[in-house]
Amino acid sequence: MGKKAVGGSTQSNASVGLRLATEIGKTAEARNMSTPNELPQTITDVAHLEDLLSAPSAGVVETLARLPGDILVLGAAGKMGPTLSRMARRATDAAGIQRRVIAVSRFSSPGQEAKFHAAGVETIQCDLLDPAQLARLPDAPNIVYMAGMKFGATGQEALTWALNAHLPALVCRRFPASRVAAFSTGNVYDFVPTTSSGSREIDAPNPRGEYAMSCLGRERIFEHFSRAQGTPVSLLRLNYAVEMRYGVLVDIAQKVFEGRTVDVTMGYANVIWQGEANAMALQALGHAASPPLVVNIAGPEIISVRQVAEKFARRFGKAARLSGAESKDALLSNGERGYQLFGRPRVTVDQMIAWIADWIARGGESLGKPTHFETRDGKF
Ligand SMILES: NC(=O)c1ccc[n+]([C@@H]2O[C@H](COP(=O)([O-])OP(=O)(O)OC[C@H]3O[C@@H](n4cnc5c(N)ncnc54)[C@H](OP(=O)(O)O)[C@@H]3O)[C@@H](O)[C@H]2O)c1
Repeated sequence: MGKKAVGGSTQSNASVGLRLATEIGKTAEARNMSTPNELPQTITDVAHLEDLLSAPSAGVVETLARLPGDILVLGAAGKMGPTLSRMARRATDAAGIQRRVIAVSRFSSPGQEAKFHAAGVETIQCDLLDPAQLARLPDAPNIVYMAGMKFGATGQEALTWALNAHLPALVCRRFPASRVAAFSTGNVYDFVPTTSSGSREIDAPNPRGEYAMSCLGRERIFEHFSRAQGTPVSLLRLNYAVEMRYGVLVDIAQKVFEGRTVDVTMGYANVIWQGEANAMALQALGHAASPPLVVNIAGPEIISVRQVAEKFARRFGKAARLSGAESKDALLSNGERGYQLFGRPRVTVDQMIAWIADWIARGGESLGKPTHFETRDGKF
């Protein structure tokens, strides 16, 4: 699928299926299902989805067996934090060691904490921007930093900067000796020609718009404290996580399904199965360094928005309505460094398309949070 694959494939589809099936097998057993020997054809419901998204790879189990101490997940109540926290819990249990996994967030939406508790993850309500509340958090040797603000950044520029660039300073001062895996974004890069294989970590950042600038600010503040205090940090430049309820592929699929127009001006993108992004982030704790490790978390396939829309249209038996023409550049990342550190992603774009088409056609749940990946002026 897509325009090109970045780098050479090192893993057969058969081994892809086998490795993931091992994890699915464990969860299927727990849910009293027969164990499939390949990826499921259908993701049946939210429980099945969250089982998949939180299934730890062997690399995550190995990493969390090796790193001592508790894990704090800061900003855990968003789109990725619940399954990342649960993956950390499952990997810890699989490794047979004792550790607390603690999800920290304001938990702005009601009922969120119960789901963490059911997964064996503790919760602490905390507004991280309040230094008194931050001071009361327990110490932990491992921190996954997920707090961020993107949508609504336009019009709330000051809060965006406070959360994305000021909060890292508070966290670094509060936890100077912890290792930190901090989520960043591929938006810190400039657009690159669509004929390229995407921005690499050695490329100079050139963020467009205040959201992306504030994210580079987040990286620079982490880097400063990492250098000044020796805090080990990994900076994870993600774009874009996908599951059934949100993501670039879901945005395109919903438009096609509802007969809405898909603008192809931002003609290409990277996507990665959220379970793989979660796994890479947890493994990145084991590579935290001073000065920080910087690593892209991006899928190996650069997708064509036009081709993806046409694939969904065929699956839905509808016509894809397209507008615009592909620009010569796009926001693209090269994930090769991440594959060398953590292994190559196992779930292909075609697999995600099949699952999402089936999910949407059955009226599956959506978070109602479009990614706005089409945005070219940096305003979110
Ligand atoms: N998902 C993607 O594809 C993607 C792509 C690029 C980068 N990223 C970055 O990766 C990280 C995780 O992604 P995500 O999609 O899970 O992000 P998300 O949905 O925005 O979740 C972040 C969570 O942080 C919490 N938070 C915000 N302000 C807080 C505060 N003052 N105190 C405590 N918690 C606070 C919020 O939960 P409460 O309201 O409950 O506190 C929010 O749900 C984010 O930094 C995001 O920007 C994600």
